[in-house]
Amino acid sequence: MDTRKSLCKNTVISADRETWTEEHLKDAETIEVEIGFGSGEYLIRRASEHPDRLFIGIEKKPGMVTEVSKRVASRNLDNIRLIESCAKTAFADLFPACSVSRIYSLFPDPWPKRKHSKYRLFSTEYLCLVNNRLKVGGETLIVTDSADYYHWILRQTPDAGFEIEHGPITPQFNTRFERIWLEQDFNTFFRILLKKTQQIKT
Ligand SMILES: C[S@@+](CC[C@H](N)C(=O)[O-])C[C@H]1O[C@@H](n2cnc3c(N)ncnc32)[C@H](O)[C@@H]1O
Repeated sequence: MDTRKSLCKNTVISADRETWTEEHLKDAETIEVEIGFGSGEYLIRRASEHPDRLFIGIEKKPGMVTEVSKRVASRNLDNIRLIESCAKTAFADLFPACSVSRIYSLFPDPWPKRKHSKYRLFSTEYLCLVNNRLKVGGETLIVTDSADYYHWILRQTPDAGFEIEHGPITPQFNTRFERIWLEQDFNTFFRILLKKTQQIKT
């Protein structure tokens, strides 16, 4: 039995291809997706501010999904769904083309060592997949503390069908990782906003 389901009915949805149904995405004009929501503060805040939108959080750590599903239940938010999965697999398997309005990822794991760079999420291949799942005019926001990862992501973007805005920003998201960095006197982060201008086939 999936005990997480009983914590908050309908919040945690299975990433299993066979039980997934596009009904999960139905009835929402605007769908926002947060990748790697961690302790879920930003997802919960945005969902509270926009009750008319559907928010889908994708997080690969089961413990975080369980923890956040309890928080969602305690706030009676019925516009959040959580998927325990790697983002790449979830977008590839569960979302149709042109279905999502906004995707964001705050402080994604930068995998700083060269030998680990293959684990970095925002490769050209992944950005093309994200492009395909976004609606025309949709956007994806990435905020990182790592200058190295920021420049690496910018090098992945040219053929992914986006117009790009980017630059340094001040702290403004109040997530767990933003606070961790602030405690260590990091006050500048890097923002990449990708606006879909062209549909990429996957
Ligand atoms: C550095 S933490 C940031 C958490 C949160 N966004 C914050 O700002 O506090 C990165 C999060 O992304 C999750 N994550 C890393 N790679 C992922 C992937 N491929 N798919 C989904 N989640 C991922 C990790 O489990 C972790 O919770």
